[in-house]
Amino acid sequence: MLDLLIKNVNLANAEKGQDIAVIDGKIVEIATHITTPAQQTIQGNGHLASAPFIDSHFHMDSTLSLGQPRLNQSGTLLEGIALWGELKPSLTVDAIKKRALELCRWSIARGTLAIRTHVDISDDRLLAVDALLEVREEMSEYIDIQIVAFPQDGFLRYAKSEQNLLRALDKGVDVVGGIPHFERTMADGSASIRRLCEIAQQRDLLVDMHCDESDDPMSRHIEVLASETIRQGLQGRVTGSHLTSMHSMDNYYVSKLLPLIREAQVHVVANPLINITLQGRSDSYPKRRGMTRVPEMLEAGINVAFGHDCVMDPWYSFGTHDMLDVAHMGLHVAQMTGMSQMSAAFEAVTNNAAKVMRLENYGLQVGCHADIVICEASSAIEALQLRPERLFVIRRGKVIASTEPRVTKLHIQNTESSVSFSKGLF
Ligand code: FE2
Repeated sequence: MLDLLIKNVNLANAEKGQDIAVIDGKIVEIATHITTPAQQTIQGNGHLASAPFIDSHFHMDSTLSLGQPRLNQSGTLLEGIALWGELKPSLTVDAIKKRALELCRWSIARGTLAIRTHVDISDDRLLAVDALLEVREEMSEYIDIQIVAFPQDGFLRYAKSEQNLLRALDKGVDVVGGIPHFERTMADGSASIRRLCEIAQQRDLLVDMHCDESDDPMSRHIEVLASETIRQGLQGRVTGSHLTSMHSMDNYYVSKLLPLIREAQVHVVANPLINITLQGRSDSYPKRRGMTRVPEMLEAGINVAFGHDCVMDPWYSFGTHDMLDVAHMGLHVAQMTGMSQMSAAFEAVTNNAAKVMRLENYGLQVGCHADIVICEASSAIEALQLRPERLFVIRRGKVIASTEPRVTKLHIQNTESSVSFSKGLF
């Protein structure tokens, strides 16, 4: 007897008309026409079944704080930073938790079941660390949350950062963060990378740095991050987030840099929604897009994921934490409209992001966790086209969110008809 049987779904790898059998929270069989009896059966009706969406770069401590204490009038990064500074003194553990838990509910509804969140450790009280550790624990049945100790005000630039970062790690924070481009000098940026990688190496932790989030083509901290990764034997355990300066770098230099990132097995997370709104901001025309070189990195064999970064916070007024919005924006900004590139954009918010977080037993394969999202679309590419309802969100074989199909009726030309946006082309 199966616990759950999902009938007639199309998989993200383009296999169509498959059934998925689940026992004890694991996928035990994927085949056409499974006839084993099951306690619960879901009719997939030819919709897409995918492993859950994953957000590998987010800020849960600031999320949903939009309007507190006031709205960002200019919409700029600088006013966003100022606003966060104004809000910080009045933060409480309960207020941060409340917003983060609300965000988790949005995530589950959107089929996003793993989030890597950075947490600002520049506040000596570490309130946000305490709040997010509680959220990680309370939501662990539903979402995998990884927390990155993020020295927002700089690691060397703010004197108490190392002490705070070590305290945060002692409390149970998972990943070592950094922000080398925000240190006072390039040399300090390099020194911060060396020290942070040492801390990760000594404690056997992963690293994820905000790196070169700048339009300055000479912001080259990713080179140091990659070389330190190799020197300290951290291959596959380090992520460079943003890397927007690479957009503006000299092409010859990048031709040397890409193989280095690949050699170090450094993962890359681009954040298209934020990069396209914050980068190139001081340019006249032509105006740079500012997102890192995603197609070129994928071609070079580098693992690239897309993150949401922000949802309704001082830096970004939009978003409902829908990773399909992120992939949709990512493929536009990177001009990834080729057939295999559109599939790659879907991978960037699923499998590639799982590799960044080093999630175990992730994937729509026999033996993996029965964590499955059924979208009201016929394929991964149609899901990007329509950004449809998540009809069922399943975690360890249990339905944890369900949504009725979207039906719009037209009352025109003296008749009533329903409208469908699906063309079923992919
Ligand atoms: Fe970020």
